[in-house]
Amino acid sequence: MIADVVVDLQYGDCGKGKVAHALCREHDYTHVIRYNGGCNAGHTIYHEGIKFVTHHIPCGVFFGIKSVIGPGCVIHVETFLQEIEELEKFGIPARDLVKIASNAHIITDFHRAQDKKDEDIGTTKRGNGPAYRDKYDRRGVRALEDPRLTDYIISLYHELYENEEIENIEILFEGAQGFGLDIDWGDYPYVTSSHCTVGSAILNGVPPRSIRNIWGVAKAYETYVGAKDFEGPDEEFDLIREIGEEYGATTGRPRQINWLDFDMLRMASRINGINKLVVNKTDILEEVGTWRAYSGPNVLHFDSKEDMEFWIETKMKLEVSEDIETFFSGDKESI
Ligand code: IMP
Ligand code: MG
Repeated sequence: MIADVVVDLQYGDCGKGKVAHALCREHDYTHVIRYNGGCNAGHTIYHEGIKFVTHHIPCGVFFGIKSVIGPGCVIHVETFLQEIEELEKFGIPARDLVKIASNAHIITDFHRAQDKKDEDIGTTKRGNGPAYRDKYDRRGVRALEDPRLTDYIISLYHELYENEEIENIEILFEGAQGFGLDIDWGDYPYVTSSHCTVGSAILNGVPPRSIRNIWGVAKAYETYVGAKDFEGPDEEFDLIREIGEEYGATTGRPRQINWLDFDMLRMASRINGINKLVVNKTDILEEVGTWRAYSGPNVLHFDSKEDMEFWIETKMKLEVSEDIETFFSGDKESI
């Protein structure tokens, strides 16, 4: 068994969907597995020129690859079924390709109603936190108990370890949210209720030694949506928000903007053990004409895109690992 993992190194919305989409095109994956989160996530994917926003469903569906919602996820059934219908409308055979691990959990209407009352964290109000709370309180509802999901349910163990139809399992793990929102490593309590690191992928049922590449995804600046103060005072941030279309894919809320924080990027890269780094949306800073990043509490000013890229790439190699291969992408349209 071989598995690649796509993991977000900041606060979500860094373009994991785009990286996963590109990897699906290049590899012969047998499965794409979503490993955490629920419909709080919004993955924007441009497939053959059409913009799709998925919440639950992994991007393997666009390539005819079996796409599994793993046991680390929580599912709102109506949202899920709507997503299936949307994809089918565009000729994507989601009904056949999408599977749900029997031991994933359900977001009930009660969970949603409770989450709607949140005023402290700035959640997406999709019922995510209450669903995970009930899971860990051992009073949750598992996917296999919901009759509306019968056609989609699989045993992930059987699928991966006793599958007579597929000889060499090759998985792409596609996560949701990001390091800064991780329940343990994020800025608690301003976090989501699941694990957003590479460990979370492994918890979905593969041996640690099956991991081949760990693709860390970041943006050339940072964005965060939620209740804490995050945005800096610089006037460029309004411009970045407009040009970069930094509004939540799920809730439409404006994302708060700040410069890339190298210390956090380094911590997230170390803890995830990445060997590939993708820094997206360099084209937005290019349009704004400013290149800045935090190193500790200091804001560094770079003269050019090349200067900032060289700085990031060199520091990653020196301070995280020699093995890290860094890619910069300025292709806003495909995020
Ligand atoms: P929850 O996951 O809805 O409970 O929200 C907790 C925090 O995570 C809030 O700050 C949300 O805005 C943030 N969050 C959850 N999902 C995403 C996402 O997919 N992208 C960005 N932020 C998210
Ligand atoms: Mg998103």
